[in-house]
Amino acid sequence: MKVLITGGTGFIGSHTVISLVKEGLNPVIVDNFDNSSPYILEALEKITGTKPSFYNVDCNDAQALDQVFMQEGNIQGVIHFAAHKAVGESVANPLKYYRNNLGSLINLLDPMLRHKVSSLVFSSSCTVYGQPATLPVTETAAVVPAASPYGNTKQVCEEIIKDTVASNVLNPEQSAMNAVLLRYFNPIGAHPSGQIGELPLGVPGNLVPFITQTAAGIRPQLTVFGNDYNTPDGTCIRDYIHVLDLADAHVKALRFAANVADKKGLCEAFNIGTGKGHSVMELVKTFEQVSGLSLNYLLGERRSGDIEQIYASVDKAQQQLGWVAQRDIEEGLRDAWNWQKNLESLALDKA
Ligand code: WQD
Repeated sequence: MKVLITGGTGFIGSHTVISLVKEGLNPVIVDNFDNSSPYILEALEKITGTKPSFYNVDCNDAQALDQVFMQEGNIQGVIHFAAHKAVGESVANPLKYYRNNLGSLINLLDPMLRHKVSSLVFSSSCTVYGQPATLPVTETAAVVPAASPYGNTKQVCEEIIKDTVASNVLNPEQSAMNAVLLRYFNPIGAHPSGQIGELPLGVPGNLVPFITQTAAGIRPQLTVFGNDYNTPDGTCIRDYIHVLDLADAHVKALRFAANVADKKGLCEAFNIGTGKGHSVMELVKTFEQVSGLSLNYLLGERRSGDIEQIYASVDKAQQQLGWVAQRDIEEGLRDAWNWQKNLESLALDKA
């Protein structure tokens, strides 16, 4: 099965390429290196032993994207990762986010319909839930007004996909498209080989890259954003999922979308998390245990826009996709630290 992966050299995209090849699927990567590096392609070849087709295309270029479908011929599935994803940047520059995240999705759905591609897996986010009223949060929980333009683009993209799938199934000339919306929780970790991981662009917004860069001496100190929340140790709780588990979920989701003929016109959301919540301080202490280092951190003020706690109900993914996370935060932090140490030797220009 030939699968187009937009953003396939990004953090989650590159790990998903490895899972696809492992499962005998045939990934075709589309990426413009906006948030990655050509180095990742070389590393993927080393890890997988294959050289996936690659197109240096920006998904905002509708014509170039359509050309990929034309050139590749029988693309049967698409996994759409390509999007801007920095919450803070989206507040400062909302139009950049709406133009890119919504525009690239529309540019993708159009050729998918024309080329009768049957399956779409979309990279969504738990940010659509805001602060859930009850935990663990299920897929039926209310999708609340997003706290950032980034979060809003994820919500609007889910709606665009839902409407497109619904209209497509009414069109007798079209073969139906099935879509799976994967609502990620907090991706962490890296490939155990230490050859690929999250390429930090500037100052990391996310917790784990900030921890590993502080441990590596790149950042002088980690600030824990608030320890006066209504949680056991006062710091925020999140559901941290290993990127390898997240990658495997995409393969399961693709098979689910492709193999269920009676679900033509399906559009289903799934939580992709571990089902366990961990606080910021638990991650700091666990990192110190797995690295043997003492981390320089400061208990600082809350970060605006943060929710207090969220972790996933993962029953639906387990029952319908046959997927469950296999790894814990110790493994995620160990792999993230291993990647950080390798980054220095790789001397990547993005680091
Ligand atoms: C986690 C916790 C911070 C940095 C966002 C998006 C989500 C996804 C992941 C893209 C929070 C605390 C962080 C630091 C800290 N994005 N923290 N010091 O905000 O839960 O989720 O990124 O896929 O869609 O919403 O992740 O890693 O930024 O923060 O104390 O230097 O760590 O306050 O409680 P977040 P995060």
